[in-house]
Amino acid sequence: MLQWNLREDVALHGPGAEASMNPDSERGDDDPERELGQFIPLHYHGQMLASPARMLGFRDAIAHAVPAGGVVLELGAGTGVLSFFAAQRASRVYAVERLADNAAAARALLARNGVADRVTVIHADARDYLPPTRVDVVICELLHACLLREQQAAVIADFKTRYLERFGPPLPLFVPEAIFLAVQPLEQQFNFYGFEAPVPLFVDRTSPPLPGNEVRELAPPQLYAHFEYAEPYPMRFAWSGSFTATEDGELTALRFITKNILTVVLEEQRTADWVMSELVMPVPAPVALRAGQVVTVSFDYEAGASIPDLSRSIVVTAGA
Ligand SMILES: C[S@@+](CC[C@H](N)C(=O)[O-])C[C@H]1O[C@@H](n2cnc3c(N)ncnc32)[C@H](O)[C@@H]1O
Repeated sequence: MLQWNLREDVALHGPGAEASMNPDSERGDDDPERELGQFIPLHYHGQMLASPARMLGFRDAIAHAVPAGGVVLELGAGTGVLSFFAAQRASRVYAVERLADNAAAARALLARNGVADRVTVIHADARDYLPPTRVDVVICELLHACLLREQQAAVIADFKTRYLERFGPPLPLFVPEAIFLAVQPLEQQFNFYGFEAPVPLFVDRTSPPLPGNEVRELAPPQLYAHFEYAEPYPMRFAWSGSFTATEDGELTALRFITKNILTVVLEEQRTADWVMSELVMPVPAPVALRAGQVVTVSFDYEAGASIPDLSRSIVVTAGA
């Protein structure tokens, strides 16, 4: 079954959807950054708290990444749940949240969960805030499929510059530590109870598709970007690549896969990961393919851009 994630569903409502729901009016209505979908009101956090892949991945990663007695900074704390995980090991956690209602909720929830003595919630913009001391670990979950919508890449890049200016190297460990982005051509059906609607879908592939939303993979996925947050990284993903169809079919969509490497657990020779719900984007026009035929795919978007921005940039061209 398709998993409709409300946080992602908000993204489908287009630019400004969150702004109209945003109770925090400290920035003016004309502030373009309110249009970017980065601030997430409390009523969307239940879905995040209930996502096993996200929660278990972060809990595992934080338990391994945070040193006993260490100092942690969380950028974008929401309900404070990741700071709560961090407080199981850290002596001090600074948790920054931009929405006043969320910050107040986080304070109350962290007290309710017995860690108020170790977690300080700061109502501030992560782009303005620096902790009073060096920190061992920075946790930042401002993530959306493909690094769209939310401002993970910009917020961490900005933090690194200001942190190095204030404290000098080394940088703290980042959770997540790295990201892999991949794309795959699909024959995706977009029929919803008799209604044909090729719209962006967020799909949890661990569940079977709904009748009418069957899918066939027309070629293996290809990586289009991967980087570590501690290193310099791109803010724009302009990619062009060729796929050779493995079977006959009609290319109707591209599947975008976002795998977050939350931390590397060296002692166990593994990583703690979070593979997000996949973003399935309809292509501008279906392309019929024969097995062995080459198809070229290109797209171009900025980190933090909107889903329509990605959609507008997609070009698919079948070869001979
Ligand atoms: C995806 S949620 C994650 C919340 C929490 N860390 C969790 O994992 O459940 C991101 C949170 O960051 C907040 N946020 C987004 N941009 C921010 C910024 N620039 N400064 C501070 N908070 C921000 C949002 O309002 C939201 O509560």
